[in-house]
This record gives sequence, C-alpha cells and structure tokens, in this order.
Amino acid sequence: MRLPALIDPHVHVREPGQTHKEDWDTATQAALAGGVTTILAMPNTKPPIFDAATLDLALGAAKAKARCDYAQFLGAGPSNADWDRHQALLPQAAGLKMYLDSTFGELRLDDMTLWQQHFQTWPRNLPIVAHSESRSMAAVILLAAIYDRPVHIAHVSLKEEILLIRAAKERGLRVTCEVTPHHLFLTRDDIVPSPLHPSAIGIGEEGEGRFSVRPRIASREDVEALWANLEVIDCFATDHAPHTLAEKDGENPPPGFPGLETLLPLMLTAIDEKRLTINQLIEKSVTNPRKIFSLPEQPETWIEIDENARWEIRAADLRSKCGWTPFEGWQVKGRVTRVVLRGREAFKDGKVLVEPGYGQNVRQK
Ligand code: DOR
Ligand code: ZN
Repeated sequence: MRLPALIDPHVHVREPGQTHKEDWDTATQAALAGGVTTILAMPNTKPPIFDAATLDLALGAAKAKARCDYAQFLGAGPSNADWDRHQALLPQAAGLKMYLDSTFGELRLDDMTLWQQHFQTWPRNLPIVAHSESRSMAAVILLAAIYDRPVHIAHVSLKEEILLIRAAKERGLRVTCEVTPHHLFLTRDDIVPSPLHPSAIGIGEEGEGRFSVRPRIASREDVEALWANLEVIDCFATDHAPHTLAEKDGENPPPGFPGLETLLPLMLTAIDEKRLTINQLIEKSVTNPRKIFSLPEQPETWIEIDENARWEIRAADLRSKCGWTPFEGWQVKGRVTRVVLRGREAFKDGKVLVEPGYGQNVRQK
C-alpha cells in the first residue's frame, strides 16, 4: 500500500556535540527506514542551538550528512529573549523550543519573566513548541492566549493534560499538541527491570533505569485517556531521544527513548487492531504537522508499506546508533518496504539508498 511520507516534528539528532549517541547521518537513516522523510530537530545539543552561530553549526552538519529533509529548532535560553533584534535569523529555524520543565540538557527556563520575553519577541507567525508538563502546561497555554498566538505542546502524556488541551481548544484557544508512541503504547505496568540493572524498578522514583524518559511513562488511566481523546491529538511525534545502552544502564541513566524506526510499525499494528484508522495516521503524521509547522509539500514523495508483514522489533536490526529500543521483542504487523523522496528511491528492502547530503533544509528559500 502507498501512503504519504511521514513528518516527525520532534527528533533529537545529537549533533553537534554528542555524536556517540546519534548524528545527522544515522538519525536520518533511521527516519527513512521508519517511513519519515522530514524531521524537525530539537536544540538541546552540545552546545545548545540558540543563536546564529550555533544554528550554523547544526545546519552545517545537517547539510553535509542528512539523508532526508529537515529543519532545526532554536532553543529559548536566559540570554536570547531578544528575538526582535534577530529578525532575519528566525525564518531559518523550524521554530522556537521552550523547555519549561526539567529534562536532558541545559536549556531550561525557570523564570517566568523570561517566558514572557520570549513570547513577546518571537514572531506570531512562526511556531513555538513548549516542553511543559502538568501545571506549567496550563501556564504556557494562558501565556499564548495573553500574547494572542498559537502554541504547540510537546509530548502530552497525562489525562489532566489532554483534558486541559481539549478544554482550551473548545474555548477557541490556538493550542495544538503531539503525543509520542511510547506514551501511547507503554504504561507504568510495562516498566520492567533492566537485566543489567535489576534494581531499576518503578517510576516516579530515582532509578527508572533504561526506561527513564521525560515526561515519564504514565499510568494505565492516563494512557487510556490519550486513546479516548485521539481527536484532540494533532500530531504523532517520536521524541526520538537516543542515548547509548551503556548510558541507559549505567549510573544516572539519561532520559529518552529512540523512536523513529518503531513509530510506523506500532501505528500500523494499532490500525490492524482497529484502535486507529489510516486517515487518523495520515492526519497526525502528515497533514497536521505540515500545517502547524508550515512545511512545504515534497514533490514525488511517498512510502510503500506491506501492511501484512509480521515481524519482531529488535534493536540489532535498527539503524539508530543507540543500540536499544524500549519495544524490544514486540510483535508488530506492518513494515516499510520502499521510500521515494523527491523522485529518488531513498529506501528499499531494508537498505538506505540516498547518500549523506541528499536531505534538504525545508526552511531554505
Ligand atoms: O526523555 C527525554 N529526553 N525528554 C526530553 O525532553 C529530552 C530528551 C533528550 O534530549 O534526551
Ligand atoms: Zn524531546
């Protein structure tokens, strides 16, 4: 079956700075293998992407190495809330990412006067994405309403959050949101001790081990609320956040899961189980992200899937550098067989066929 190629609006590429976890080559190979031809890259790299020089750094690496299309977010920091002085730079970015709750990396904004300055100076017509959980989500939705602009909420995971967004939308507020596959398919009950770290049990405590992720994997009730409110979810986004297995199973495991190669098989399995429709998949992984992030159509671009192929997810078969997946051993139905990107066969029968540098920056005129 032929489908439109997917867009993933939330990917941690790790370059610059942490290329032992992932880089522009491996992240975009993983994207193509997952049926994704456009990725939006997050700014919590080393250094973080927060001005012209660091944006150049990321885009330079992307230009040389990316095999699928992309754009790069700028990060909201304590010293760059003067976007009105950098007008020319802003349309070159995917949008502005604001980290309002704690997570991996240095880009965290605690001071709410800084939130306000970013909202004041970032143009209304360019995207703002907020990592905001629970009450800070309510706060950022209020701020967007005050500044009369849209806001996109990253990785919604809780019942109270999806109900808040539902209520905000019903009220006419311009809020959109995304949900990750891991928050849709894993619950706290599925958190198992890592074989290398048998003490790593339970969530919400220190020591989630390999299953450490932000936002945390939620309760069964939260997960059920997400499925019950599918129509409130605008996008699926992987939050592909690779860390190596040694890091995940070591002391202080960093939060994050890889996801680019498992999104589509998991969604196709949900479609087979009648929990999701093909139209919902296309809406949340193609049409809505294209509209929310103003992404161009890719001409002569599509993916082909074998919706009947049954297979087992194994990290050893994946292209991400990180070497593990939280879905190890899962039986899925549906496989990407071919990807055509701008007229070229980019992936076929398990092989990536376009070279590093084939990918284009979708924000370049
Ligand atoms: O689990 C996470 N990992 N959540 C985030 O927000 C950041 C990400 C990362 O960069 O590793
Ligand atoms: Zn993220």
